[in-house]
Amino acid sequence: MMLHTICPVTSVEHVGPNIIVIGFRSPEIAASANAGQFLNIKVNETFQPLFRRPFSVYHVEEETVKIIFQVFGLGTQSLVAKQLGESVDVLGPLGHGFRVDDNFETALLVGGGLGVAPLPLLTRQLSGKKNIATFLGARTKEQIVPSFLENIQTATDDASLGFKGTVVSLLDNYLKVHQVRKPKIFACGPNVMLNALGELAQRRNIPCEVSLETTMACGIGICQGCPVERVQQEKKYSLCCKEGPVFDVQTIIFPNAQH
Ligand SMILES: Cc1cc2nc3c(=O)[nH]c(=O)nc-3n(C[C@H](O)[C@H](O)[C@H](O)COP(=O)(O)OP(=O)(O)OC[C@H]3O[C@@H](n4cnc5c(N)ncnc54)[C@H](O)[C@@H]3O)c2cc1C
Ligand code: FES
Repeated sequence: MMLHTICPVTSVEHVGPNIIVIGFRSPEIAASANAGQFLNIKVNETFQPLFRRPFSVYHVEEETVKIIFQVFGLGTQSLVAKQLGESVDVLGPLGHGFRVDDNFETALLVGGGLGVAPLPLLTRQLSGKKNIATFLGARTKEQIVPSFLENIQTATDDASLGFKGTVVSLLDNYLKVHQVRKPKIFACGPNVMLNALGELAQRRNIPCEVSLETTMACGIGICQGCPVERVQQEKKYSLCCKEGPVFDVQTIIFPNAQH
C-alpha cells in the first residue's frame, strides 16, 4: 500500500564523508516497508528541485524510518539541511522489493558504495531464517557503512580496509573457497558493478536480484521516465519504479553493456 505522508525528522547523523542518515517518524511506512522498496521524497516546499528524489528504505526502528545518502545536488543538499522537527513529504513504500522465499538457504548480500542502502532492512528480514554473508565494497574505508548488517567482508579500491579490489572479485574469491548451501545474491550498487555481478552469477548459476538506481521523476508509473531494457521479456522495457527497482539480473540489459 502506497502512502503519502508528512513525516517529522527525528535524526540527522553524519556517518561518513558526505554520507548522511536521516530518520523520520512514519509508523505506517515503518510497519509496511519491504527490503528493496523505496521512498520518493519531496525535499522542500519549493519547486527547486521540481521532482521528488528516490531513496531506498535503509532501516526501520519501531515507528522510525531511515534513509542513507551522499550529498550530490539540490535534492540531497536540501535533505541534509533538515533540522530536527522539520518535515519531509514522503510517498511510499514504492516498487517491488527483494523476493524472499524458500528457494535459497544462504543470502549473499552485496553492496557497492551507498548501494548498501537496502541491505540492513533485508538483513532484518532474513536474520535467524537464512545464512547471511555480506560483502561491502567502496573506494576507501571511510565510505564503508557496516551498521545493521551481519557477517561482513569488505573490499576497497585503495586497500584501506579488507580485500584490495572490487566487491565482485571479493565475492568470487569467497565462492572459490567456501561451500555455500543454496545461495542467492541480493545486490545494489553502480550499474558497472551489478553487470559484473550478473556475469559472476550466470557463470556460477546462482540466482541474483539487483536493485537499480535509475533516474526517476513520479516514482509511480505515470511519467514513463524510468525505462529499464529487458532481455526476452514480453515488453522490451519495464518501468523501474513500478516493475522494479528490484529485478532478476539475468532479465535486464544495463546501458552500454552487452548481455
Ligand atoms: C530506487 C532508487 C533508490 C535509491 N536509493 C538511494 C539511496 O538509498 N541512497 C542514495 O544516496 N541514493 C539513492 N538513489 C539515488 C538518488 O535518488 C540520488 O542520489 C538523488 O536523486 C540525488 O539527488 P540530488 O538532487 O542530490 O542530485 P541531482 O541534482 O539529481 O544530481 C546531481 C549530480 O549528481 C549525480 N548523481 C545523482 N545521484 C547519483 C548517484 N546515486 N551516484 C552518483 N552520482 C549521482 C547526477 O548525475 C548529477 O550529476 C536511489 C535511486 C533510486 C532510483
Ligand atoms: S518515475 Fe515516472 S514512470 Fe517511473
